[in-house]
Amino acid sequence: MHNEDNNLNTGFEKKELNLISNFTKHLFTLKSPDSMIKQAQDGGLKKTLNGFDLIILGVGAIIGSGIFTVVGIAAAGSAESIGAGPGLIISMLLASLACIFSALCYSEFASMIPVAGSAYLYTYATMGEFMAWIIGWVLMLEYIVGYIAVVSAWSGYFMQFLRGFSFLPDCIINPPVYLIHDYSTAARELISQGIDPSTVIPSFMGIPLCINVPGILITLLIIAILIKGMQESTKMAGLMVIIKLGVVALFVITGAFYVKPENWIGTGGPWWETFAPNGLSGIFMGAFIIFFAYIGFDAIATAAEETKNPQKNLPIGIIGSLATCTVVYVLVALILTGVVPIDKIDVHAPIASAMTMVGQNWVAGLISIGALTGLTSVLLVLMLGATRILFAMSRDGFLPNILQTLHPKHKTPHILTIIVGIICILGSLFLNISTAAELCNFGTFASFIIVCVAVLILRKTEPNRPRPFKVPFSPILPLMGIICCSGLMIYSMQFLKTSRLLFPVWVILGIVFYFTYSYKKQREAENAQEVSFGDNE
Ligand code: ALA
Repeated sequence: MHNEDNNLNTGFEKKELNLISNFTKHLFTLKSPDSMIKQAQDGGLKKTLNGFDLIILGVGAIIGSGIFTVVGIAAAGSAESIGAGPGLIISMLLASLACIFSALCYSEFASMIPVAGSAYLYTYATMGEFMAWIIGWVLMLEYIVGYIAVVSAWSGYFMQFLRGFSFLPDCIINPPVYLIHDYSTAARELISQGIDPSTVIPSFMGIPLCINVPGILITLLIIAILIKGMQESTKMAGLMVIIKLGVVALFVITGAFYVKPENWIGTGGPWWETFAPNGLSGIFMGAFIIFFAYIGFDAIATAAEETKNPQKNLPIGIIGSLATCTVVYVLVALILTGVVPIDKIDVHAPIASAMTMVGQNWVAGLISIGALTGLTSVLLVLMLGATRILFAMSRDGFLPNILQTLHPKHKTPHILTIIVGIICILGSLFLNISTAAELCNFGTFASFIIVCVAVLILRKTEPNRPRPFKVPFSPILPLMGIICCSGLMIYSMQFLKTSRLLFPVWVILGIVFYFTYSYKKQREAENAQEVSFGDNE
């Protein structure tokens, strides 16, 4: 009897051990890069993009609210952070350094595994199923929450643009705040005018109702453009990139005539007290904040499946667009801090206001139009990135199959695009621009760090895999990427309040979703595949 009990117990323990070992095996199941490439070849997305298209796509994704709005906060500071002063150019170089190390790692992966999915798939190939899911989930912060931050800036600029047409009815140029903002922004604006928000903002069952109408309209337009197809999207992005680079060039050239070197280095006393009024802390915090301005180059890797000769064109697109933007940003920072003393920088529309301050109102007007165009192209690429990553996650069995449905004519994932658009609209009702931008930064830093780690892992596990582009000086450069990104991320946490809490909450939600839905769905898909192989035999 006793022996039987022992046998039973041992049998039970064996079963449990088997279950646990299967479970851990699944969590670390790798996906082979070859199977990813094969899957992409069968996937049916049209290959239309070349290297130049990718640079346009990259610059379209990168230059947006960061340089048109966030640059003022990075230089002058805000309630939650300290400013870098004219030393912002050092902050920009620091942020761009962190991006360049990661961009090199992205390029190695994108040229080796040219499939839609970006950091998510690189993680799947190196760290297994669970980490891949987490990174895919975190990437949604970068693309969807980043979209929410930019759409909020877009509707601000749009209202400023409409106010230029004074013949329009007042209800259009000066609508109630609850029709153009999320709740916290609307409430802050009312409080600054000495008005109690509860007396103005309507509510339903105690929930205040704020709808960003311009944001919803532009999102509907972006959905329509993306459904129509990649080629059309990049043509549009190309036009927008030309306009925004044009207004930035106009700012730099006009501003150069008004630069006063004393705004950079002061007139008496040590020069660095004017150049970096908050010392190294200000420069580091400025680097964290202005990092938002660089986000977007990695979106190029998500268009890998739609790229001709991706091994050559992806590195050209990624590094080319990042280099172009770094030059543009440093020039803008030099002119802005050279024209306007740091305590006079307008944190809402710094570039346009700088031109107004020197009496160039027409330049300021053109800059507002350019900003609007620039933000539109960023919106386009961010939503494109979100849909392509979710497309890859659905193809891998993490999410419902319906998300892979392609439009019969345009061959784009139209159902997925509509769903992502709706999520963006809903999110823009709740998140304000600064929290959304900070959260977006956290998500992006996390994915950059993982991509740098993934490059190092794959170099060890598959040293002989052909790499059309290799990160030079590995492992030093990927390690520098990890150090720069994690350093800026950890440093910023001492200043930020809401986003530093929301980031772990988002990760925990992702873990719960994985174990309650995606893990099971993966196993069902595997079982179905085994049955179909069995039938074939
Ligand atoms: N880099 C993008 C922008 O500045 C997110 O708007």
